[in-house]
Amino acid sequence: MSNPSFISFSGVSKSYDGAQYVVDDLNLDVRKGEFLSLLGPSGSGKTTTLMMLAGFESPTHGEIRLDGRRLDDKPPHQRDIGMVFQNYALFPHLTIAENVAFPLSVRRVSRAEQKTRVQRALEMVELPHLANRRPAQLSGGQQQRVALARALVFEPSVVLMDEPLGALDKRLRETMQYEIMRLHRELSLTIVYVTHDQAEALTMSDRVAVFSDGRIQQAATPSELYENAQNAFVANFVGENNGLTGRVVSVGEDWATLALSDGSVIRGRSEPGLRAGDEAMLALRPERAHIPSAEGVQVDEHSNVVRAQVQELVYCGDHHRVHLALGSRDSFVVKVPNTQRHALPSPGSEIEIAWRHDDCKILAMSVPRSAPVIPASTPLSPSIITTAPAGAN
Ligand SMILES: Nc1ncnc2c1ncn2[C@@H]1O[C@H](COP(=O)(O)OP(=O)(O)OP(=O)(O)O)[C@@H](O)[C@H]1O
Ligand SMILES: [Mg+2]
Repeated sequence: MSNPSFISFSGVSKSYDGAQYVVDDLNLDVRKGEFLSLLGPSGSGKTTTLMMLAGFESPTHGEIRLDGRRLDDKPPHQRDIGMVFQNYALFPHLTIAENVAFPLSVRRVSRAEQKTRVQRALEMVELPHLANRRPAQLSGGQQQRVALARALVFEPSVVLMDEPLGALDKRLRETMQYEIMRLHRELSLTIVYVTHDQAEALTMSDRVAVFSDGRIQQAATPSELYENAQNAFVANFVGENNGLTGRVVSVGEDWATLALSDGSVIRGRSEPGLRAGDEAMLALRPERAHIPSAEGVQVDEHSNVVRAQVQELVYCGDHHRVHLALGSRDSFVVKVPNTQRHALPSPGSEIEIAWRHDDCKILAMSVPRSAPVIPASTPLSPSIITTAPAGAN
């Protein structure tokens, strides 16, 4: 039976300067064979998390386990983990075959065995014909394939990829996404994949952990993240969102009502922990909001209805994007599918927009950060001063 938590981070925090956590109390389990993506904005701690798992950085607190065993004292090459870096990191003076053989020679695999395995790894990425070239003689996509072959050649149980497709153009990126998904499936790999491209994370992954500020805001399947974001950060970062803010008026077990800037009060699903008086955000996808006059949808007591002024209509082939102003402050987008013959409202007109209570959420802003590593009152110790000069911030 497979171990449900093949990789586990428990209470893992990392500080480079002794003053601030860049990864803050990370708790995350990865199943054997899972494709997990770490998704988040620049500087949110994704690479640091991957580097700790690979063994190039060590956690300040907490522990990381692979298949039940602590990883802390193991150097990178003893971790049974393949790694693909953002910039390929191929050795320019070695041939493609020598690059791919490198992890094998570090592991003291015999010459004959190296030859067979390199051939097999290059076949996997469809590059055996380029074995004797040097990296500079390959295209970006081909170099990326070599990096992939090098990460897979020693048949690691885990492969880590840090923005592996960031440098490729859109078409090549899509081709490589399918390649990686195919290899994941065929080799039953466990993959931890870093990206800040939400579309890439949603299409490739079994599960996505959304990072912000060193903390996991939510770890869930792509559809769960899109349909059921747990806080405002996730709702805004994954997919398009009408994120109007307001004040919570009342809360129930799994619902809340919110007063918007124009005074209208709406109702939606909610998460535990929200209290009346809190600042909160409406999370509503543009395709879930409707213009009853243009779409012929029924409005009943299970719907929110607000008035808004049409600002602009944008034709997008299969749908129109209708941009609206709500009160004097907020803007709103509704996607109207081009499947019916109802007339669209004209710019400047005042209309009703409506959506079902169940189709929106009322969410707290984000998971709060914990305190800095060193309380402000504690003097810096000499070892810390070497990396963070006093007064640097
Ligand atoms: N070696 C280091 N020494 C000091 N600070 C570092 C080091 N590496 C990263 N940091 C800092 O830690 C924070 C997290 O960085 P990290 O590289 O993990 O982010 P990331 O999510 O991978 O971002 P990106 O999407 O830009 O690659 C950043 O504020 C960064 O400046
Ligand atoms: Mg990074």
